[in-house]
Amino acid sequence: MCGIVGYIGHREAYPIVLKGLQRLEYRGYDSAGIALYDGKDLNLCKTKGKVADLKTLLEKEISTSGKLGIGHTRWATHGVPNDVNSHPHYSNSGNLVIIHNGIIENYDSLKKELIKRGYTFQSDTDTEVLVNLIEDVMTNENIKLGKAVQLALNQVIGAYAIAVFDKNKPNEIVVAKLGSPLAIGIGEGEFFIASDASPFIEFTDNAIYLEDHEMAIVRLDKDIKIRKIEDDSLVNPYIQKLQLNLEQIEKGGYPHFMLKEIYEQPLAIKDTYRGRLLADEGIIKMAGIEDNMKRFLNADRIIIVACGTSWHAGLVAEYIFEDLARIPVEVEYASEFRYRNPVITEKDIVISISQSGETADTLAAIKLAKSKGAFVFGVCNVVGSSIARETDAGAYTHAGPEIGVASTKAFTTQITVLTLIALRLARAKGTMSSSDYRRHLHELELIPEKVTEALKADKHIQAISELYKDSRNMLYLGRGYNFPVALEGALKLKEISYIHAEGYPAAEMKHGPIALIDENMPVIIIATKKGHYDKVVSNIQEIKARKGKIIGIVTEGDVNVRELADHVIEVPETLENLSPLLTTIPLQLLSYHIAVLLGKNVDQPRNLAKSVTVE
Ligand code: M6R
Repeated sequence: MCGIVGYIGHREAYPIVLKGLQRLEYRGYDSAGIALYDGKDLNLCKTKGKVADLKTLLEKEISTSGKLGIGHTRWATHGVPNDVNSHPHYSNSGNLVIIHNGIIENYDSLKKELIKRGYTFQSDTDTEVLVNLIEDVMTNENIKLGKAVQLALNQVIGAYAIAVFDKNKPNEIVVAKLGSPLAIGIGEGEFFIASDASPFIEFTDNAIYLEDHEMAIVRLDKDIKIRKIEDDSLVNPYIQKLQLNLEQIEKGGYPHFMLKEIYEQPLAIKDTYRGRLLADEGIIKMAGIEDNMKRFLNADRIIIVACGTSWHAGLVAEYIFEDLARIPVEVEYASEFRYRNPVITEKDIVISISQSGETADTLAAIKLAKSKGAFVFGVCNVVGSSIARETDAGAYTHAGPEIGVASTKAFTTQITVLTLIALRLARAKGTMSSSDYRRHLHELELIPEKVTEALKADKHIQAISELYKDSRNMLYLGRGYNFPVALEGALKLKEISYIHAEGYPAAEMKHGPIALIDENMPVIIIATKKGHYDKVVSNIQEIKARKGKIIGIVTEGDVNVRELADHVIEVPETLENLSPLLTTIPLQLLSYHIAVLLGKNVDQPRNLAKSVTVE
C-alpha cells in the first residue's frame, strides 16, 4: 500500500512526480504529498485527499520548480488520513525529507528513545520516527546520509520502501527496500524512483528492482551503487529491460480502468495461453512445469495460498486439479495459513497466486512453506514482483497491468494459467483420455471468442443494474465450478458499490441463507447447462416460492430458467470446467454498472488499495 515516486535529473521534477503519483494512486489514495528542491529551498505540500486535490493545492501554495522531487500517495496505517500524517515527512532540523511505503513495527520504542533525546513529532506516523532516527544517527556519528540510512535501518523492524534526501546535499536520493517494492529507472543523466515502473515508462525502459535488504545511493554524478543494508557489502546491479508500454497503463477511451480491464479479457486470456497452448498438436508447454515435472508427479498434495480474488481463482483451481489431474488440493487464505502452524512436508507443492506479486500475507505464506521444505510455485501477473522472485518456479499470467482496484482480468487469466497446469499434469499422469484432453485444449482456445460474446450482454446488464442498484443485500449462488464464481461476484459488488453481498454454494442455501429471502432480496444464481443444472433449477424454484428476485446466469438458449427467473443473462456454452471464465463476465459487469449508477468511485473504492503490502 502507498505509492512512492522520486526524480533527480535535468528535467523539471514536478510534472514527473505528479503524473507518477496519479499512476500509483491504485496503491492508496487517502492523502498525497510532494517535496521539491528548487536549487535553494525545499518546498513541500501535502494534503488529505487524492492526488487531484494535492495538485490544486500545491500549484496555489508552493513553487513547482526544481529538478529534484519526491512524492507519496498514502493508504493510512499509522495515524488517520489527514494533512499532518501525509507524506513526505521532515526531520526535526528540516534538512531531511522522506517518503515511505510500509510499516515500522518498532516505531513506538524508537520514538520514545528519540523523545528522550529531545526530538518532537508533528504526526502519528511511524515514518516521521524513521526520518528522525536517520537524522539522529547522522548527527551523532557525523556521517553522510547514505551511511546514516543504513545504520538507522539496522535498528528498524518492519517493512519499507523509502526515498530520502538531504536539502544540503541535493545531488542524491537514498533509497532502501524491505518487503515493499522499489524500482529505479535509469535515464540519460537522470534517475526515477517508484513503487513500480509505471511513473517512468515514457522516459526509460531500463530499471533496477531493488531486492529486500538492499539500499542504493542514487547520485547524479556517479553510477548507482547497491549495498546490502546489513553488512554494507556491494551488490551487482541487474538492469532489467521493461516490457511495459504507455498504452497499457492508460484508460484508452474507457470511462474507468475496471471497464477497460473487463473488456481486455479476450485478449488477456489469449496472451496467457499464447505460446503455451498448441491445441492442434495436443501440446501444453510451460517451462516452470516441465522443469519440475517430477516434483509435480510425486507430490502428495497441492496447497494453494492466496488472498481475495486470487483465493477465489485458487478455489476454481481446486476443482479443476482434483477433477482432471486427480491431485488432492487444499486452498488456504494466506493470512490464516501463515499463522496456524500448518503441516507441510517436502512432498507438498505450494502454489501461490497473486496479481500484484506483492501481497504481504501471500509472501509470508510462501516464506513459511519454503522454510518447511515445500516447493513453491508462483502464479503472478506483475513481472519481477516480490512473489515472482521469492518462489522456486512459476508462470506469469501475462494479463498486462491491472489498475482498477477490483480484480477482473487477473481472475480469468489466473484461472487460465491454472487450467493449463492442470491439463498438463493430467496428461502426464494419464488421468484424462487423449480425446477428452484434446477437447479441453480446443475449447480453451475458443474461450476468448466466447468471452467477447458474453460481453455483448453489457447493455442488458446495465438495464438490470438500474432495477437493483438500490438493494441493501444481494445473494450470489453457484454450484461446483461456479461456487467460487459466486464468491467472486459477491466480492466485486461489495468492494465497489458497498452493497452487502454474500456468495454461497447453491445447495447450502437451505442451511441458513434461505431465511434472508423475501421480495426484496435479489439472488444471482449461476445455472449453466452442465453444472448440476437440475439441482440448481430446484434451488431456483425454492427461491421463487419465497418471492426472491432471480437473476439467472444461463447457457445460451436456456428455456427452463428463463421461465422461472425475473431476468436471465446468457453466456455461450462451454465445458463445465471452463465455465467460470464465462460466468464471471456478467457478474463483473453487474457490479461495475451498479457502482457507476450509485456514483461510486469504481477504480478507487473507499478504504481499499490495489496491493495489500501490509498484513
Ligand atoms: O495482488 P493479489 O492478487 O495478491 O491481491 C489479492 C487481493 O488483495 C485482491 O484480489 C483483492 O481482493 C481485490 N481487490 C479483489 O478485487
